[in-house]
Amino acid sequence: EPRNSMVRGAFVVVEGVDRAGKTTQVQRLCSKLYALGHNIKTIRFPDRVSTIGQMIGSYLQNETNMDDHVVHLLFSANRWEKAKWIEETLAKGYTIICDRYYYSGMVYSAAKNNPALSLEWAKQPDIGLPKPDVVIFLDLEPWQAEQRGGYGEEKYEKRELQQRVRELYLQLLNAPGGGMKVINAGDSMDAVEERIWNEVLPWVEMVEGGTYGAKVG
Ligand code: TMP
Repeated sequence: EPRNSMVRGAFVVVEGVDRAGKTTQVQRLCSKLYALGHNIKTIRFPDRVSTIGQMIGSYLQNETNMDDHVVHLLFSANRWEKAKWIEETLAKGYTIICDRYYYSGMVYSAAKNNPALSLEWAKQPDIGLPKPDVVIFLDLEPWQAEQRGGYGEEKYEKRELQQRVRELYLQLLNAPGGGMKVINAGDSMDAVEERIWNEVLPWVEMVEGGTYGAKVG
């Protein structure tokens, strides 16, 4: 149980290109925060467990095909399914570390080179979701990503698409109100871990003491 149920937790999102080491870094961040006595929950998107998540999973594994808009809206719906849980969990005093969020939704869909699917269009269904307090972007150049073992079998694990994904993330960073902290994920895991820690800890400490309820605008 949280130490103080009147205190809200922080909502921390970790974004990044494929192969940037997100999963490892999310685990390390969680265990360090936990060791300091913070109440932590983790979540990842897509959450492949729900019915919608299973539809997304089979699309990513090339078992089913869907119109680009349809799968985009499923990814968004998959976040909306968890929106209430996120708000309630934060309100109970848990800090949430979230592996991918609507930024992934925007850039992966817009990277498909479907002219009907702009970044701006892609953001619309996510407006109103709980807003993160801090967003970390783990950046890795495509050649570095490929040195880490090449891409696998999933739908989006292709060089061209990954390059566009990275460019779109960088566009989001430079957009007004972007608010993502870029961390070069090409360095050692320990160095990346330390940089994430230095960015995230102050936010967690600050938010756990304050009030909050902003929405994605
Ligand atoms: P994962 O490898 O982190 O499980 O993510 C699976 C893929 O889904 C990854 O290539 C990024 C992509 N994705 C989207 O296209 N839209 C989204 O909204 C999210 C969360 C992920």
